[in-house]
Amino acid sequence: MLGLPWPRHGFADSRSLRERADAKGLVFGCAVKSPQLGTDMPYTDLIATQANMLVHEYELKRKNVEPSPGQYVFAGADKAMNFAADNGQAVRGHTLCWFQANPDWLEDALMVPVAQREQLLISYIDRVIDRYGSRMQSWDVVNEVIEPQQADWNGMRTDNPWWRALGERHIDIAFHAAKEKAGEAKLYLNDYSVENDVRWNEDRRNTTLRLLERLKKRDVPIEGYGIQGHLKPYRDRFEPEVFAKFLRELEGFGLQVMVTEFDVADVDGPADPAERDADIAAVTKSFLDTALDSPACAGVLCWGITDEYSWLSDLEKYKRADGTKTRGLPYDDQYRPKPMWDAIAAALDAAPARVPT
Ligand code: XIL
Repeated sequence: MLGLPWPRHGFADSRSLRERADAKGLVFGCAVKSPQLGTDMPYTDLIATQANMLVHEYELKRKNVEPSPGQYVFAGADKAMNFAADNGQAVRGHTLCWFQANPDWLEDALMVPVAQREQLLISYIDRVIDRYGSRMQSWDVVNEVIEPQQADWNGMRTDNPWWRALGERHIDIAFHAAKEKAGEAKLYLNDYSVENDVRWNEDRRNTTLRLLERLKKRDVPIEGYGIQGHLKPYRDRFEPEVFAKFLRELEGFGLQVMVTEFDVADVDGPADPAERDADIAAVTKSFLDTALDSPACAGVLCWGITDEYSWLSDLEKYKRADGTKTRGLPYDDQYRPKPMWDAIAAALDAAPARVPT
């Protein structure tokens, strides 16, 4: 037990999370897997009714989009774009530059003179933004670039083909390329494990703030910071005051903020699912109350909507030893809403309304 309070709310009205977010001018949405859209109808219905913004869980990653050099495959990404358009939903673009999910050919292709390495990054960004630019509310231009546990180089992640090819400058190149084409879409840096009251998250916060200072000093056109929000409450303690302080520091940079990949891993939690559900709901409420209290925070995206398809159940480090599905998303694997759903609804209802920008 985490010992956090979780009063059941018993909502008087049955409005969806989408309606609650809309009422506040907030984003609420989730990552989608397009093969299930239109084939798994209960899933499809949840995506349509509960989300006002979608993000591709994997189909807009370079490995999927450019499996061989210059050969672009947009079918999966298009399917989710069309679904969002049909359902009046905004979309977030994830992601243009990441150390993971790159096609196998990329590492070898980067063994060329520096100017051509830059081109390998820029041409991809151009191509993807040309296709989807006008439809995106925001882009995760660069994803997961820090890793202070790798010690030197200002805490930057060095096991990154882009870092090896171009150094920290790859971030500048990516943002400038995106800015040329992105129109109104907000350009984000996105990262994980910056919210908890543990030493290694503290190191990540400090590394992030130092990086943001350097980017601002170099006039890199960064407009937003995405807090992934993959919580692991039985391992890494969440403390609202610590997170609130980081949010205030981000506000100081004038950035829009969004919780971009929220879920709650229940690994190491009690055996009784009801107990875990109550803990997950409590930490959800506390985390989202804190995030939505920040005037910079535009809202929250969950990394999926139902436990049936959660990436957490596929990951060795988060998998449950008893073989049951993880319970880190608002709906369980039978698509029934859980206390986590109530907690998200309560946090949206309690959030200050946003003034439209
Ligand atoms: C994960 C997806 O959920 C998986 O389906 C995929 O195989 C690997 O990537 N941080 C991110 C996301 O920025 O892109 C990751 O998504 C989860 C961690």
